Amino acid sequence: MNPQDIRSIHARRVWDSRGRPTVEAEITLDDGAVGRAIAPAGASKGTREAHELRDGTPRFGGLDVMQAVGHVNGEIGRALSGASARDQAALDRRLIELDGTPNKTRLGANATLAVSMAAAHAVAASLRVPLHEYIGGAEATLMPMPQIQIFGGGAHAGRRVDIQDFMVVCPGARNFAEALEWTAEVYRHAGLVMQERGPLRGVADEGGWWPDFATNEQALETLVEAIERAGYAPGAQVAIALDIAASEFGRAGRYTLGLESRELDSDGLIEVLLRWIDRYPIVSIEDPLAEDDAEGFARFTRAAGQRIQIVGDDFLVSDATLVREAAARGAANTVLLKPNQRGTLSETRDAWLAAQEVGYAGIVSARSGETEDTTIVHLAVGWGAGQLKVGSFTRGERMAKWNEALRVEERLGARARFAGTTAFGRSRR
Ligand code: PGA
Ligand code: ZN
Repeated sequence: MNPQDIRSIHARRVWDSRGRPTVEAEITLDDGAVGRAIAPAGASKGTREAHELRDGTPRFGGLDVMQAVGHVNGEIGRALSGASARDQAALDRRLIELDGTPNKTRLGANATLAVSMAAAHAVAASLRVPLHEYIGGAEATLMPMPQIQIFGGGAHAGRRVDIQDFMVVCPGARNFAEALEWTAEVYRHAGLVMQERGPLRGVADEGGWWPDFATNEQALETLVEAIERAGYAPGAQVAIALDIAASEFGRAGRYTLGLESRELDSDGLIEVLLRWIDRYPIVSIEDPLAEDDAEGFARFTRAAGQRIQIVGDDFLVSDATLVREAAARGAANTVLLKPNQRGTLSETRDAWLAAQEVGYAGIVSARSGETEDTTIVHLAVGWGAGQLKVGSFTRGERMAKWNEALRVEERLGARARFAGTTAFGRSRR
């Protein structure tokens, strides 16, 4: 018997920020330490993501997760009982083997991820260290640059505008806490600008202001105005990051901008984005082209990859093999890391290791369907990824993560280093 062997695993159905069911796993070790974690859920998902198991019964529109919960309480619990939680790689390998499918279609990535993360929490509790320190050791002291949404859009706002995330980063901030302070002011001023123009229509899925705009450009202009009114220099102090989420409105090299009733091919969309980069203080663009448009990704990266960060989300789905393939063709320079796109911590970390091998940057990211779970904050610090994307600056499921990062920075004290923009992706050729 070893103090960090698994005594029991229990799963329950809990609810996410959209009021939809999701899986929570709780692991108790032989020494009595307990770890708990909840799987998040996306809305604009990549087709190559690991499978999120939903019951498909009439309850909750087919979205119930009682099968996934049952797998944890049955098969997974039996297989892992007595195993060491200390060996994360072996534990995750066991989950992968047990599932036996390439994409976790049998047990569900929501089941396996909740277990994988809960095991890490349990060991950290057993060792009495914060999760980031268990993951990265005492030398993991790099605080990430936050990417924070000001306006939501795309699939997160009823397609009111085409672009999904209008975000800010704070290149001029001296530490994580200051980046949040500046973002709070930009978010507040963005709300005031919107209010002057008409009634405020609430917030989108991840808490960004509802995008009441006539064009995509108008959203960008309003964001610059909010940065200025908040008293910051656009670009130098506060800059713009976009998630185009182009797979949502394009495939096979054809893109339909609904807001502008325009149809574009890859080069047409690239031209629009290049114009925006010239006109607005944009430092990062995620999924500029659709997940099936690797050639477009490579062309855009050749055109803009030395100036800005180009992030693959749906395009790379946190997959180490896809990261290596993308690097071989010069597509993107940064990978978004969403643990539930793979279904275990180890596989997500493999994507980050592959990224570092090929000179790509990494951004640890939440999903649009979230909970109070703050595991990703600890992954960002523990892995030294240098960037963290959580959604906007309202709603408890978002603030739980920003606030947890504040606690981590405070605890690191003088040892904390702020990544600033040093961790941003840049193509070398
Ligand atoms: P999702 O969106 O969680 O709805 O997939 C987040 C993102 O695209 O980054
Ligand atoms: Zn995305």
